[in-house]
Amino acid sequence: MAILTILVDNFARSRGLLAQHGFSLWCEAGSNRILFDTGADGDVLQSNAAALGVDLSKATDIVLSHGHWDHGGGLARAMDLCPAARVWIPSGALLPRWHRCATENRDIALQEGVRSRLVLDRKRWQETTDLATLGDGIWITGPIPGERPAWTHRDLWRNELLDVPDDVPEEQALVLETPEGLVVVAGCAHFGIDNLLDRLGILFPGKPLATLVGGLHLESAPQQELSRLSGRLLEAGARCVVPCHCSGPYASYQLSKSDGFSCEHGVVGKKLSFPV
Ligand SMILES: [Fe+2]
Ligand SMILES: [Fe+2]
Repeated sequence: MAILTILVDNFARSRGLLAQHGFSLWCEAGSNRILFDTGADGDVLQSNAAALGVDLSKATDIVLSHGHWDHGGGLARAMDLCPAARVWIPSGALLPRWHRCATENRDIALQEGVRSRLVLDRKRWQETTDLATLGDGIWITGPIPGERPAWTHRDLWRNELLDVPDDVPEEQALVLETPEGLVVVAGCAHFGIDNLLDRLGILFPGKPLATLVGGLHLESAPQQELSRLSGRLLEAGARCVVPCHCSGPYASYQLSKSDGFSCEHGVVGKKLSFPV
């Protein structure tokens, strides 16, 4: 049995669990214990893990989906709390990045404390550039290629002054192979759902998608695109979609109206289990 537990999300509905803008998920599968993303800071990650009975010291792997502060902000603490874990960072995640629009110009790269820790602990982490296996039937995709739709990287730039767009090319996903199909975890889905499904088709030919959980970055996706994506997810075999974090309440609601798969918004503490 594989068990996924949401540790950090924008929403929490139970007493004792903290919400913050960010995402982190704990995955138990076989002998692997994987921390996928770390939320925006170590305090919330540590507090929610303790409240949910998740023993981070057992982690075999820490996987970073991409180099934004709300996914990697807890990484330095996670490296302390998960002393035996291998750390997987997608190539390009450490480049500068900014959120710039009419009302703000904000550095959204990994925080200075995280970057210093990675410098000091260089032997502890490795860059992923392609598909990599963490264990039997457990994979990280490596950076997912493909042209991204505008809504997945609106107002994201490489530089605080220069107009160099950032479509977050490094973002990777976690994939579990189960008898029912692929269980896929996304951090923010800046890669776009279409590119994810295309990549899964290449990396795991003939294997249907069973479950998609995580940030889907559909907040500003047009209505007709949400309907189309519902259809594509269904076509890919989806039975369960759990939008979290940056998915957007309207998009989650639209996805939940699909007849073909179940869809319930993720919150801190939500658990999903699968036979493996
Ligand atoms: Fe995010
Ligand atoms: Fe992001």
